[in-house]
Amino acid sequence: MPIKPHGGVLVNRMVTGSERDKLIQKCGNMERIKLTPREVSDLDMVAVGAFSPLYGFMSQAEYLSVVEYGRLPRGFPWTIPITLGVDKKRAEAFKAGDDIALYDQQDNLLGVLHLHEKYLFDKEKEARQVLRTTDTAHPGVKYLMDMGEVLLGGPISLVNRPPAGPFDKYKLDPAETRVLFKEKGWSRIVAFQTRNPIHRAHEYIQKCALETVNGLLLHPLMGATKSDDIPAEIRMECYKVLLEKYYPKERVVLSIFPAAMRYAGPREAIFHALVRKNYGCTHFIVGRDHAGVGNYYGTYDAQLIFNSYSREEIDIVPLCFEHAFFCKKCDEMASNKTCPHSGDDRISLSGTAVRKMLSEGTRPPREFSRPEVADILITAMHR
Ligand code: ADX
Repeated sequence: MPIKPHGGVLVNRMVTGSERDKLIQKCGNMERIKLTPREVSDLDMVAVGAFSPLYGFMSQAEYLSVVEYGRLPRGFPWTIPITLGVDKKRAEAFKAGDDIALYDQQDNLLGVLHLHEKYLFDKEKEARQVLRTTDTAHPGVKYLMDMGEVLLGGPISLVNRPPAGPFDKYKLDPAETRVLFKEKGWSRIVAFQTRNPIHRAHEYIQKCALETVNGLLLHPLMGATKSDDIPAEIRMECYKVLLEKYYPKERVVLSIFPAAMRYAGPREAIFHALVRKNYGCTHFIVGRDHAGVGNYYGTYDAQLIFNSYSREEIDIVPLCFEHAFFCKKCDEMASNKTCPHSGDDRISLSGTAVRKMLSEGTRPPREFSRPEVADILITAMHR
């Protein structure tokens, strides 16, 4: 039996056929909103069921319950607000019961919000509860503070998928990954979330996990990220070369995860896990400082937060890994759990040190990053 979607049913809010034609026609007479890239990916993910059991942008009851308790009102764990914000002046044009046409920044019509309610929200509280900081240097806090003051809640209907990006041939919806896993005969599938090129530590924890399951879903996040994260097209080159040279083809699926990064550390780890369950995965890797940024979270906070929920209600199994590194004495990748040697024997490089090496055209040690990946990053930096 495949793992059940969160809440039991895979939501589908895509409108098709004559119903779609009618709705598109009506959109011409509706008020309209231009969505941010984050809102576009949220809309798309709700529509394809990646955010099951959500049907749309959160109502006030859902929002308050998620912020306060990390659960939806019906009790299901859910840790990240999925919201649509507009400024006060714009909000005056809308009233409960309205249908509002949703566009992207390039004026492509995507869908309709069936507005149930509009409400004010406490940004500081959301920042404290969800992001564990109100520091605007945190990219998630900055996004929140820049949002409109009024949230629009209600179910959505999708009439057009967001325009295809360069990697859409790698984009599988939850219904599609579920079919694929079935075809492959996989019952135990581990998902790996990443917003970075894959270095040796990532590869090590993925392969450790793969030793005990049937398949790996390499699921790089391709929605909005902060400006100094490595761009998607460069990361994609890195993933492809690694899979080609170092991974067994028949055990790995590479597919993009369209969500935007929140940098919410622990809360985002739960969210990342639940959403991967909707894609049909049974296991989820949580390593050091998952979805973290700066020093806002403890190294293992994203693992500890799983203790706040029962195993049954999360259902997808978190596979927690300690900080991994290459140890020269062990002559292999290891962690504190498996290596008795000291810091001097371990190859550990900070992000800043790696960026400096790459910008000078120097490959980091092969024990840190595969040379093929280092070369792609060096070339990209000098384009
Ligand atoms: S994240 O924002 O997507 O979490 P990143 O792509 O760096 O960032 O991490 C992907 C996954 O690998 C996360 O689960 C993270 O905790 C884990 N990870 C990254 N580096 C290490 C490491 N050196 N040791 C163990 N886990 C790691």
